[in-house]
Amino acid sequence: MSNQRDSFHSRIGFVLAAAGSAIGLGNIWGFPTQAANNGGGAFLVVYLLVTLLLALPALYAEIYLGNQAQSNPVSALERACKERLPRVGRYAGIIGLVGAMMMLSFYTIVAGWMLSHALSALTELFGFVDISNWLSTSSTLRNIIFTPIFIILGALIIHQGVHAGIEKWSARLMPVLLLMLFGLIVYILQQEGASEGLKLYLIPDFTQITEPKLIISAMGQAFFSLSIGVGGMMVYGSYMKKDKDIGKLVLSIAALDTFIAFMAGLLIIPALFVAQHAGQQVFVDNKLIGEGQLIFKVLPSLFQSMGNIGLIVSFGFFSLLSIAALTSTISSTEVPVSYLVEDKKMSRSKATWLVSAIVLMASMTLVAFFDALFGLVIMVLTTIMQPLMCLFYFIVIGWIWQRGNKLNIKAQTENNKWLTLFANYLRYVCPILLIVVFINIVFLA
Ligand code: PFF
Repeated sequence: MSNQRDSFHSRIGFVLAAAGSAIGLGNIWGFPTQAANNGGGAFLVVYLLVTLLLALPALYAEIYLGNQAQSNPVSALERACKERLPRVGRYAGIIGLVGAMMMLSFYTIVAGWMLSHALSALTELFGFVDISNWLSTSSTLRNIIFTPIFIILGALIIHQGVHAGIEKWSARLMPVLLLMLFGLIVYILQQEGASEGLKLYLIPDFTQITEPKLIISAMGQAFFSLSIGVGGMMVYGSYMKKDKDIGKLVLSIAALDTFIAFMAGLLIIPALFVAQHAGQQVFVDNKLIGEGQLIFKVLPSLFQSMGNIGLIVSFGFFSLLSIAALTSTISSTEVPVSYLVEDKKMSRSKATWLVSAIVLMASMTLVAFFDALFGLVIMVLTTIMQPLMCLFYFIVIGWIWQRGNKLNIKAQTENNKWLTLFANYLRYVCPILLIVVFINIVFLA
């Protein structure tokens, strides 16, 4: 079976695909919204700290586990735990798989919003104002149409198994996304009111930094942004040849992802203040009105202020966001698909359509009970399931897998002092840090 597995052909191919998974709506939609809602600069500082201290090691752990196992996340975790707790490993893999499906259930809805906004700009450009207005106004019918379109788009790519296709597209489109972000930042910073947003974002209010709620939100956001805790990075790690020097690869993925999130904050937070300056109500008691959906009002009005060229920029921006969302969706979908193909011997095509059908049902349930479920699923996934899975990774690598010697043995054979230090950091410090955060969550609940 193992020599039939698809794989990345180069280190750069792996980095691009993994960065494609990491960079998505979490960076451009989630991060700025969370930052604006949680004190701006204070959130940024805590986010960077949590990324460095916990999310980066967790990303290493996840990719390392997959890379060593060269198999889907369920059997990867089962094998890593085989000496002591094989069943537990398997169940944990399945929980990750459920997490991946939960992620898809809400992510495809938001990605559908991006698609419809891209189309809204295009239709307005061609003079279809009514259609354009409908496309840019949130409604249940719009969700019912665009969520399945997005799911089908993802499935079409996955079912072909074209890593090369998606790798190439990520390589071409990510630089364009970056250029657009740069251009928009330059534009927005020249508008009235932007400097207020810039201050909120870049000058942290240190009194807020120890807020437990802030730490939890930042941690959830960091884990979500780096795609850890649901097996997406593990499955990508398994598609890379064994024992590459993954430390550097992990650093580049995290650096790219964090940089894009930072840049998105530099665009969206000043944009919110520009909108406020122009008379739109944006904050009430320091909280964003309408939370995550607000940027879909603010950004289009920003594009409108640019005149006709704004429609083209809007089309480009939302299309690129849709593509960034697509590359993220693909890695999540790959988790259950690889499990069904490898462990349940299903054909890739059948597995893809089966998973897509389940995701469609889940996302339609979220659409039907939007107010009750949408925020809840995001909260449960990012602040409970993903961190718990990361805790499990740390325990597996630090204590269970070859009695916690796996990474230490690698460090010793390579005579790598940094790796020895890192192995001990994963073994002792990371689980303790995470448990401390969990105790906070319990006390807050
Ligand atoms: N990291 C993606 C984002 O920031 O949008 C979301 C994500 C992708 C989470 C893949 C989990 C995953 F497996």
